[in-house]
Amino acid sequence: MNSLKSVYLAMQIKASSITKMKVMIIGATGPTGLLLISEALARGYEVVALVRNPEKLNIIHDKLKVVQANILKSDEIAENLKGCDAVLSAVGGRPGIMTPCDVYSKSGEAVVKAMRDVGIKRLIAITAWGTKDDPDLPFIWRWVLKPSFLRNIVKDMEVFEDFLTKDCADINYTVVRPPKLTNNPSEGEKVLVQEGLCVVDAPNSISRQDLAKFMLDCVTSPDYIRKMVSVAGSGPAPKK
Ligand SMILES: NC(=O)c1ccc[n+]([C@@H]2O[C@H](COP(=O)([O-])OP(=O)(O)OC[C@H]3O[C@@H](n4cnc5c(N)ncnc54)[C@H](OP(=O)(O)O)[C@@H]3O)[C@@H](O)[C@H]2O)c1
Repeated sequence: MNSLKSVYLAMQIKASSITKMKVMIIGATGPTGLLLISEALARGYEVVALVRNPEKLNIIHDKLKVVQANILKSDEIAENLKGCDAVLSAVGGRPGIMTPCDVYSKSGEAVVKAMRDVGIKRLIAITAWGTKDDPDLPFIWRWVLKPSFLRNIVKDMEVFEDFLTKDCADINYTVVRPPKLTNNPSEGEKVLVQEGLCVVDAPNSISRQDLAKFMLDCVTSPDYIRKMVSVAGSGPAPKK
């Protein structure tokens, strides 16, 4: 992006964050999704949580609208997307050697179609470290987890990422790739960020709360537009 364009985008984002932000969250009933909701509400944002199981969501707030909808159907997404500034996805598939997975790619396609229909451009979605091979990936990820019970999930994350790269030049996406997620509270430390398939020499984990905060920071930042960034917590790196 040339510098004039990014200054203009930064001004647009700043202006909208000063007025008010409204975000749609999908995968909102998962542990990261729930943290995205509370962090967004804490920032004063309006939130539309698109869920398949409303009973899993017991946050009540006047700025939170919970909608039961199918995230694989673009018209159901579009119906609820009007007026939103961004979509945040914490959708996740179920691990398992024999468990098929297409929820990242299929929900991704439906969300992008809905965004185009409504004219929304900002998308921030989670995949994971190592969606493609990289010699810097931790041994356990590269040779144990990825070829076994995470293989179908990671394969579909890769399909989703490739779709964004090849077919979504009109969408301001940021793909956030975390390592193992923990339920530790945020330590308020800086999230380590690196473009690519992992963060080299960093801890192999990040708290879901820090991940949620980072994703929400992306909503109002011109950084990482049309980028795929790996993140990590900033605790001590594991010994090699
Ligand atoms: N766990 C880790 O260590 C780890 C590491 C790297 C990356 N990640 C990625 O980080 C993200 C967040 O993970 P998490 O563990 O916090 O959450 P999660 O348990 O993976 O939550 C999954 C969310 O996606 C929703 N979902 C799945 N399939 C759906 C479908 N067909 N229709 C509608 N909703 C659907 C679930 O809805 P229901 O509540 O209705 O089931 C839930 O809200 C995921 O993408 C995960 O793959 C996780």
